[in-house]
Amino acid sequence: MEREVFLEPHDLIVSKTDLKGKITYVNRTFMNISKFYEKDVIGKPHNIIRHPDMPRGAFKLLWDTLHRGEEWFGFVKNRTADGNYYWVFANVNKGFEYGKHVGYYSVRRAAPRAAVALMSELYAKMREVESRHPSTRAPEESLKMLMEHVQNEGTTYEKFVLNLFDQG
Ligand SMILES: Cc1cc2nc3c(=O)[nH]c(=O)nc-3n(C[C@H](O)[C@H](O)[C@H](O)COP(=O)(O)O)c2cc1C
Repeated sequence: MEREVFLEPHDLIVSKTDLKGKITYVNRTFMNISKFYEKDVIGKPHNIIRHPDMPRGAFKLLWDTLHRGEEWFGFVKNRTADGNYYWVFANVNKGFEYGKHVGYYSVRRAAPRAAVALMSELYAKMREVESRHPSTRAPEESLKMLMEHVQNEGTTYEKFVLNLFDQG
């Protein structure tokens, strides 16, 4: 049985990638929580820690946002190397070296319980939408559903997730 692993309030899980999303750095907390060590992940695509419960539309939004040159905030369920999972609130940003845009980095904090409950449900609905569409269209269709949801709440995606995090 999968178990949830909990972050401490002060834990910051950090990773860096190249422009394509291949991992170039992970911090100590990343390794302690995920049980993936440098030798397992450096040079690998970041989807190595992807949990199957995550809808593809969530990552479409992440990459669309980064390609627009903006930072992305969102809740992510990741898998651990020993078959468990953990929830985080992630902020993904452009990474620079000597002034050159070389990739991205993500800083992740513990996700509040209320946010995990809500996002689990929303992501499950997104995956349900994805299952009803051809693979090529699935991410955009589930993303459309997510955007309609936040619009119905009278807000934007970014305000919606930041608010969920702040309510912690
Ligand atoms: C800096 C950075 C951090 C990322 N962190 C995660 C993560 O923690 N978990 C995850 O599943 N995907 C993460 N991704 C997204 C992956 O690159 C990938 O898009 C996602 O896992 C979905 O896999 P797919 O694109 O192969 O469908 C991250 C991407 C970047 C650029």
